[in-house]
Amino acid sequence: MPDTASNTSTQRSGGHAVEVHPLTAAVGAEIRGVDLTQVSDAQFAEIESAWIRHSALLFRGQQLDHGALLAFSRRFGELDPPPVNENGKKFVEGYPDIYVVSNIIGADGTPIGSLGAGEAVWHTDMSYLPEPPDASLLYSVEIPPAGGDTWLCGMIAACASLPQALRKTVAGRSIKHDGTYNSGGYLRAGLKDSDDPVHSVGTPHPIICIHPPSGKHTLYLGRRRNAWVVGLPRDESEALLDELWAHAAQPEHAFAHSWRVGDVLMWDNRTTMHRRDPFDSAARRLMYRTQIKGKLKPQRAP
Ligand code: SIN
Repeated sequence: MPDTASNTSTQRSGGHAVEVHPLTAAVGAEIRGVDLTQVSDAQFAEIESAWIRHSALLFRGQQLDHGALLAFSRRFGELDPPPVNENGKKFVEGYPDIYVVSNIIGADGTPIGSLGAGEAVWHTDMSYLPEPPDASLLYSVEIPPAGGDTWLCGMIAACASLPQALRKTVAGRSIKHDGTYNSGGYLRAGLKDSDDPVHSVGTPHPIICIHPPSGKHTLYLGRRRNAWVVGLPRDESEALLDELWAHAAQPEHAFAHSWRVGDVLMWDNRTTMHRRDPFDSAARRLMYRTQIKGKLKPQRAP
């Protein structure tokens, strides 16, 4: 039953209402009325349909143990193993599909997770791989009193508003996505420092892709550092990337999420980028992340 004033809709599935509240016109919707440990098939169908329309979903007030986080994540597809973090740590002991994002220092004197307390710059998860994960889910367990907001950027909206001349310039082109550093600026374990985007570790992907579930066109930028527009001289590539990034990261494409404990925020890596604000390194922040395996390589839009 759509509510025209707020653009909110309520779907009654098997007796339990699923409310879909869009967060911004460009990206995201909050889903209310769902306990993620008990999602019926009918409710999941409504969630999936909102997922395809909004590219990112927020569920507040959840209580998930590792098994429940994995079970809900798996409803969206097979899970992708997380990257090795900057300290060489891979996953939660006994749960190889759960990645830890945290600044908390463990008994061995190193952080128990990735990304510290600093800013994490705009990026799309693991886009340096040939087959990046379709989606990521982030579940908040401990949050700092201030800071640490996670921002989303809607790349379908950014693609739709690309100036015609810029769209023509990038048509048919690819960006090489660098895998040397993570979004916190940390060197990935086992790799060598590199400021040479042409030869560093990474994978080229089309700049304008199709989002298979919706058929919409989306801008696929990955991360700015060490990116290269394949085939262009470095100075031309840098100028074109600066123009693309200035366009994409405009406030009208973005949404900032302020965390509460028990939030699940999930984003489609094909149609969003995200970044994180820094927070006080003396405060504690603990998040668990899962990744949904990519079903297809990023597909060039015709
Ligand atoms: C991430 O980039 O996956 C983590 C974002 C965050 O810490 O909010």
